[in-house]
Amino acid sequence: MNSSIIAGSLLRQLKGQFLSNAAAGPVLFGQSPVILYGISLGGSRLLSTAAAESSKTSSSDQTAAKSSKPSSTGKFKVEKEVASYWGIEPNKLVKDDGTEWKWTSFRPWHAYTANTSVDLDKHHDPATFGDRMMRLTVKALRWPTDIFFQRRYGCRAMMLETVAAVPGMVAGLHLHLRSLRHFEHTGGWIRALLEEAENERMHLMTFMEVSDPRWYERALVFTVQGIFFNAYLLAYILSPRLAHRMVGYLEEEAVHSYTEYLKDLDSGKIENVPAPAIAIDYWRLAPDATLRDVVVAVRADEAHHRDVNHFASDIYYNGLALKEVPAPLDYH
Ligand SMILES: [Fe+2]
Ligand SMILES: [Fe+2]
Repeated sequence: MNSSIIAGSLLRQLKGQFLSNAAAGPVLFGQSPVILYGISLGGSRLLSTAAAESSKTSSSDQTAAKSSKPSSTGKFKVEKEVASYWGIEPNKLVKDDGTEWKWTSFRPWHAYTANTSVDLDKHHDPATFGDRMMRLTVKALRWPTDIFFQRRYGCRAMMLETVAAVPGMVAGLHLHLRSLRHFEHTGGWIRALLEEAENERMHLMTFMEVSDPRWYERALVFTVQGIFFNAYLLAYILSPRLAHRMVGYLEEEAVHSYTEYLKDLDSGKIENVPAPAIAIDYWRLAPDATLRDVVVAVRADEAHHRDVNHFASDIYYNGLALKEVPAPLDYH
């Protein structure tokens, strides 16, 4: 058997493996984003008329899919075959106005209106030596950030959101594993913390639209993520009280930074461009919303994260565990 035959055989096996794995992930159908996973987890009750109609025609689609042939471009519609095989029907989502839902990062029922009435000036006075250390750590981290980004708030926001989305995921992961290890409930905190991580990631998806990271900034994100993920995980294992306190102070700084961002938008130093389409859909903003509206919504989110993390820290401070106090879910 020569090497080309062996290589061909391996490729065929890999292709089969790829198709098998692809069934668990999101798949794009042509130009229309159609999400395959999680549909049975509450999605069907919220699907639009168009989605329901899509479901009705799915059996005929399945038949057609099984006999799919290479298209004129030579591509197989393999995704549809995979969907049919696993019995997971693709649903085409639409917005309230009937137009196509084009985001794969989130779904219509994840969108919300930011509660901008949240108190932006709320602050936690350090009560212990640990609190003061966390406050100092955050202040110290701000110093290099200010030097590196100056007042380039768009870029600054985008870069900092790559970090801000880490703590919620680490804490949620930690609590998840703890719940498994100790056979215990968690008071809804896993979901609350993962919601925070997802919300921060949506901030990043938004600011990506108004800022384009340079190669060295992308390299910085890689480096910082590697360090920060491990450092925060270790901190959370050692003292969730202090880990949450630090994030609480980080969020206080985030509120401050976005307030500065707004000042530059209002003074004209930064152009108040139209809001990215993804932001309009995520925060249910008006069609003519601007970047200012987006920053106001993001700042409100950060204030909520501040409250949640200081609250979590206070729970530990009072000698309780998170599982003993119901988590603030859907707290935007
Ligand atoms: Fe954020
Ligand atoms: Fe935040």
